[in-house]
Amino acid sequence: MVTMPLDIWSSDDEPRLGVVLDEIWTLLEEGVTDRRHGFHTPVAATLPDSGGAALRTVVLRHVDREARCLRFHTDIRSKKVQDLKADPRISFLFYDRGAQTQIRVDAVATVSHKDEVTAAAWEKLTLDNRREYMAAEHPGEPSAWPTSGLPPELQERDPTLEESEKGYKEFAVVSASFSKLEWLYVCHEGHRRARFDWTAEGELDTTWLVP
Ligand SMILES: Cc1cc2nc3c(=O)[nH]c(=O)nc-3n(C[C@H](O)[C@H](O)[C@H](O)COP(=O)(O)O)c2cc1C
Repeated sequence: MVTMPLDIWSSDDEPRLGVVLDEIWTLLEEGVTDRRHGFHTPVAATLPDSGGAALRTVVLRHVDREARCLRFHTDIRSKKVQDLKADPRISFLFYDRGAQTQIRVDAVATVSHKDEVTAAAWEKLTLDNRREYMAAEHPGEPSAWPTSGLPPELQERDPTLEESEKGYKEFAVVSASFSKLEWLYVCHEGHRRARFDWTAEGELDTTWLVP
């Protein structure tokens, strides 16, 4: 008897892919709330105009099943925001070892800045999260010494609530709406792979794939 965390083998009845999709949403939602979950820190790829793909780790902040939308926070001055302004396509790679699951998501991003989306997210940020937006220089700016970029008074402590408000003007929320998702479940007994595509009307098309 093989024990697997995801029970898609116990029945031949379709829709087993519905079970898989449910599991995917559960993993994504766990990724938002559980800092130790692999899905908490996906890799996000943008398409810089210099060519190739630019990859970086981000923190998954919000998942919306209805809207098929993922969110992360960033600095409006960052290179990824520049990339997204020129080309809003973004892809995410998630992997969680415990769940033996990899997910690839292709999405289109909207960058929110100084609006109701950022205002609501900023309200919920802790002071040490807010400090991340208080660097004087742009992220990625060359420096002659190993700098945190933070003003001297904030090197060793969190800002006060009042001080932290200075960071708001640099704070951005990237909301990525997706219509393409690929799932890979890795297990010793034989991997499983499936694709989920949504049409512009929201119709779901799914298929198993050979891993
Ligand atoms: C664990 C971890 C979490 C991170 N989370 C974020 C994040 O949520 N948002 C972000 O902009 N950068 C985050 N970063 C930093 C990015 O990976 C990247 O270095 C930075 O944003 C600059 O990327 P860019 O120059 O491509 O814009 C994180 C890095 C690590 C290692």
